Amino acid sequence: MNLRPALAPALCAGVLAGCLAAAQAADAPAPAYPQGAATFQGNCAVCHGPAGAGVPSLAPPLVSYPARYAARAEGRGHLAMTVLYGLFGDIVVDDKHYDFRMPDFARLDDATLAATLNFIVFDLGHAPASVKPIEAAEIAAERAHVVDGAAVREHRKSVAP
Ligand code: HEC
Repeated sequence: MNLRPALAPALCAGVLAGCLAAAQAADAPAPAYPQGAATFQGNCAVCHGPAGAGVPSLAPPLVSYPARYAARAEGRGHLAMTVLYGLFGDIVVDDKHYDFRMPDFARLDDATLAATLNFIVFDLGHAPASVKPIEAAEIAAERAHVVDGAAVREHRKSVAP
């Protein structure tokens, strides 16, 4: 779907930051992970913004560091844990504090969650081609070890010191 910039503001329910981002997204190239993009827009954009730019003091931007996480095994596990179990407790991203609650998305299947993370890592975060796409099996591996959002925050310390 390619929203014409003139149409985008009418379609995004009057949230100013969201409208601006949607208008910009209309000029972006087609995503490499269209299914992940659709899941992101339907489930994640409400907090992280349609282009993943984040919303001050609500939810962090996802345009840079998740791509770095994806280059390391611990980071890939952390991304899977975050979408499966959520994340809560204070975190700092680009010198800004976020202390809200990332909900869990365990109800979405492994392939859907992998595609959504790949949209973040490759389409929003522009990870280099040397980074391997996240596979459904990597989501399944974390699904087998149930934790809560506070434990995900503890685990985060090993990937974002
Ligand atoms: C209700 C708002 C909300 C929704 C919806 C939401 N998130 Fe989040 N997300 C957050 C918040 C808040 C944080 C930071 C958590 C904290 O402060 O501890 C976060 C953090 C993250 C992080 C960063 C983890 C880290 O270690 O820095 C990722 C990745 C992420 N979310 C992905 C997603 C994806 C993918 C979706 C959709 C499937 C999604 N989020 C939906 C609020 C949300």
